[in-house]
Amino acid sequence: MLVTGPNGAGKTNLLESLHVGTQGFSPRTRADVQLVRFGRDAARIALRGNRAGIAVEVEVTFEVGSGKRASVNGARLRAAEQLRSEVATLVFTPDRLVVVKGGPAARRAYFDRVLGRLAPTRAGLSAEYGAAVGQRNAALRRVSLGVSSQDALSPWNEQVSTLGAELVEGRLETVSELQPRFRERAEELGLAGGELSYEAEAPSVSELEARTPRDLERGTTSLGPHLDDVGVLAGGRDLRAFGSQGEQRLAVLALLLGEAELLEERRGVRPLLLLDDVLSELDPERRRILADRLRASGQALVTSASRNALPGEPAQTVVVAQSSDGTSRAQ
Ligand SMILES: Nc1ncnc2c1ncn2[C@@H]1O[C@H](COP(=O)(O)OP(=O)(O)O)[C@@H](O)[C@H]1O
Ligand SMILES: [Mg+2]
Repeated sequence: MLVTGPNGAGKTNLLESLHVGTQGFSPRTRADVQLVRFGRDAARIALRGNRAGIAVEVEVTFEVGSGKRASVNGARLRAAEQLRSEVATLVFTPDRLVVVKGGPAARRAYFDRVLGRLAPTRAGLSAEYGAAVGQRNAALRRVSLGVSSQDALSPWNEQVSTLGAELVEGRLETVSELQPRFRERAEELGLAGGELSYEAEAPSVSELEARTPRDLERGTTSLGPHLDDVGVLAGGRDLRAFGSQGEQRLAVLALLLGEAELLEERRGVRPLLLLDDVLSELDPERRRILADRLRASGQALVTSASRNALPGEPAQTVVVAQSSDGTSRAQ
């Protein structure tokens, strides 16, 4: 589906609302108050669709002061973010280039989210591990201040080691499953020799113990998967340092398309794909390749200010226009 309309008409808004409505949070900001129309104190997104042939209705509301609520087919969820395990949505926005060109933290967060989408039971693993590291760090500071003895560290060494091992295993699985699909999709888009690399081993309790003097000095845990990185390469070159902006964009797209394939194989769901402002940056040949690929991958919404940016006839064209009262309308 092509979403078109002039700059500022509300195309990105439409995609963002679909993301919030299917995932419970914005891809752009964690500050939900930004989702509310200027001058108002509440926002509501209601979606109707079908999931594997079964009708599904989702509603997400946000009220300033009282937070977010979400329901699926009328049943209230504990937290809006739970929607993530109900519906799969993958998004590309120009900001997503950070996955390739940003620091290791951005890549860790990205691959941990991929892990959570592929294996929803492990969606909380990254946060649990992060909390264990936080607890160990707090214990380190208490020991340095002399308020606790070194024994206080042992439960956290255990936790960091156990959860760290699970997280490393999850990441290794994710990267090795994504790798061949990433490579294929990248190749198809003209980025040869795509490769993901992740080499890691979780620290054992004794390794953590051996680090204790140094960690006490610095007040942080200097060993473990919270410090890892995942390399995104093409033809042996690390794209973070040596990729052009164009190559980085193709890599992010190939990651998204590769994950979409994997989700379909692993979970039997075709994710909703939201691609914002991707076409204007691609040459005509790559646009055509992307358009063909999207046609084969389920439901996709692609925005463009230009109506003929998407090669071939889109299944549906939505024109977004701003009304005189400042609201956006889609037709
Ligand atoms: N919370 C808000 N309330 C009202 N308008 C907003 C809000 N946030 C952004 N806007 C406005 O929405 C307009 C549409 O933005 P956007 O969806 O990014 O347009 P497009 O992607 O079509 O270029 C912008 O003019 C922006 O100023
Ligand atoms: Mg936009």
